[in-house]
Parts: sequence; C-alpha cells; structure tokens
Amino acid sequence: MEVKDILLSEETLFRDETVFTPNYIPADFMHRDSETKELALSLKPGLRGVNPVNTLLHGPAGTGKTTAVRYLFHQIKESSGKLATVYINCEDYSTPYSIFAKIYESLYGFPPPSTGKPLEDVKERVYSRLRRDNRSLVVALDELDCLFLNRNVEAVLIDLLKAHVSYDFDRVGVTGIMINRGYMAQLSEKARSVFNPSLIHFRPYSWREVRDILEYRVRYGFYRDVVPEEVLESVVDITHEKGDLRLGIDLLRRSALLAENDSSRTIREEYLTEAFSRISSPKARRGKLSSDEGKLLQVIEGNNNMSSGRIYELFREGTGSGIKRYNQLIKELERKKLIETEYLKGRRGRSRKVRLLLE
Ligand SMILES: Nc1ncnc2c1ncn2[C@@H]1O[C@H](COP(=O)(O)OP(=O)(O)O)[C@@H](O)[C@H]1O
Ligand SMILES: [Mg+2]
Repeated sequence: MEVKDILLSEETLFRDETVFTPNYIPADFMHRDSETKELALSLKPGLRGVNPVNTLLHGPAGTGKTTAVRYLFHQIKESSGKLATVYINCEDYSTPYSIFAKIYESLYGFPPPSTGKPLEDVKERVYSRLRRDNRSLVVALDELDCLFLNRNVEAVLIDLLKAHVSYDFDRVGVTGIMINRGYMAQLSEKARSVFNPSLIHFRPYSWREVRDILEYRVRYGFYRDVVPEEVLESVVDITHEKGDLRLGIDLLRRSALLAENDSSRTIREEYLTEAFSRISSPKARRGKLSSDEGKLLQVIEGNNNMSSGRIYELFREGTGSGIKRYNQLIKELERKKLIETEYLKGRRGRSRKVRLLLE
C-alpha cells in the first residue's frame, strides 16, 4: 500500500482503539479486589476529614499498581469533594518544586504563576487552599524509585507529611508506588517514621487472570472475530511468561496494525510473531535510554561480565562522570532489565560483576 492509501484507508479492525492506550482505565478492573479494597480502606479516613493512611504499592511491572490508584482516585473524585487526590509520576516530576506545582495546579485548576514563585510560596498556597476548602489530600507518587535515585525523596515526603509543623495542616497522606520496596531501607530514620506505609503487594497475574483481562480488551477493542482463540492464547502465553500485562496489550494493538496493513480481517499468528520480534528486540528497548544510559550500556557491551569497578573506570574515562552518577545509571539499567549485577564474595570486601541481559 502507498503511504497515502494507508493514511486514508478507513478499513479498521478496531472498534475502540483507546482500549489499547496507556492511559485507558478499564471499566472493569478485574482480579485486584483485595488490593483495591485495602487501598480504599487506607484512603477512607481522608473522606472523614482526617489524614489518609500512607501506603506503598509494590510488585513487578504490569501488575496493575498504577491502574489501581487511578481507578480509585477516579471513583473518589466522582463521589466526594472531601478528599483531594493528586496523581504524580515521578519520572516526569521529580523535584519538590515540580511536585508541589503539580499539586497546586490540581487544586487551583491552573499552574502557579510562572514568575518564579519560590517553593515556600507554592506550598503555602497549596495548604491554605486545602484549609479553606476543608479538604484532606492524598498524593500518589508513582515510580517513587526515581526520587530515591535523585535523592529528593526525603524532602518531598517531609514537605508533605510534616506540613503541620510549618503550615498547620495535618491531613495529608502519601500513596507510594514502586517495583522494589527494597529502596525503603535507604530512608533516614526521620523520613521512615513520618511515612511508615502499609504495604500492599501486587503479585503477578496467573495465566487464567491474564486471559480474562486480555479477552476483555479484545471484546471491547476489536470487532468480532478479529482475534482467533489460538492467537489470543499465544498472546496470553507470552504475556504470562514475561509477567507484564502491558506487553500483551501492546502486542494485540501492534499485531492488529500489521493485519490492517495487510488488509487482513483477522490477526494471524504471523502478525503476532512479527509484532513480538519488533517489541522485544534489544534495539527497541535501547531506543528508550537516555544518552548517558546508552553510553554506559555500550561500555558494558564491550566488557560483559567485568567487575563493576573496571566498568566504572572505563565509563569515567569516556564521560568524566563521577561514581554517584555511575551508580545511579547502573540502577536505572537494572531497573529496565538490560543488565544485572551480582555481588561476589571476594577477599577484598564486596565487589560485583555486571552482566548484559539482552537476549
Ligand atoms: N486487573 C486488571 N484489569 C484490567 N486491566 C489491567 C489490570 N491490571 C493491569 N491492567 C492493564 O495492564 C497495563 C499495565 O497496568 P499498570 O497499572 O500500568 O501496571 P503497573 O503500574 O503495575 O506497572 C495497563 O494497561 C492496565 O490498564
Ligand atoms: Mg505503573
């Protein structure tokens, strides 16, 4: 097909393509009842005019953590004005100022004046607004590990949870979301005692659960009979094996686009195979790296299984980066599952090896 024909063609397999987009909140959020109820119980005090209980949602990628929070926040907004809910992705907003500006925007309906309002001023206005409206506040900090990596976590938690000291407001709760709760050990005594979250664990979905969830997307997202049973099961197999629902949803969408391009009315196994090889290629995963991460990965590729100390030397020679930055980048690449590190019991304290995970 010519490019123009592709763009103009009205033939589509999608009944509703938004069902496959990242911000879609499923009307039927399945198989997460107990986790969602637990979170609801923690937030409920906020509806009664006191502070919501702090929580930490943790578990592997693609297990519904973000969706659970957005789903509940949506319901709270619909049902009551007593509790202000603000969702923040710390990958995008990672400084105290940007986080409070986001809260301000959510309460006032517009961002703080861009005349360089200092942080103190923005905080003051956030809390005075909440006092005036007699509301509690819950802030979800998604991808909370980003705040550990840039070391803003203490400041942000304390600004939110100790607001009664400077701003006479004590009705704030924080819902943290992250994959690995191991980071919590890095918090200072002080931050840990103000945050002290109830933990809610999100376990991977079973094969059956993955099938239910994907079947629902297929039903609402595509016209009838677009996805044959065997193909759906193959998508479920792959998704269940990798443990990330996002992969399954993305695969369905991409396979459908390939089928459309071929003017096929059904998704055949070959489109799925093609879509999968495109998504999971190392090239695709590398495409999402920052430039420093990319450079470090190159060094590791040339020196697979080398000690972390040696890799650092080579990286520093190439970039002039310091050890702190290096450790941050290593953590990031680990988080993105491009490398893994392994501690060795050596004679001279702890040293570790860095290994590539690119298949
Ligand atoms: N129980 C569920 N029911 C329906 N869709 C779900 C469910 N759990 C996750 N999803 C979908 O899977 C994808 C990943 O979920 P997400 O909440 O972003 O995972 P996490 O935040 O744990 O990485 C999203 O598209 C979401 O809509
Ligand atoms: Mg998430």
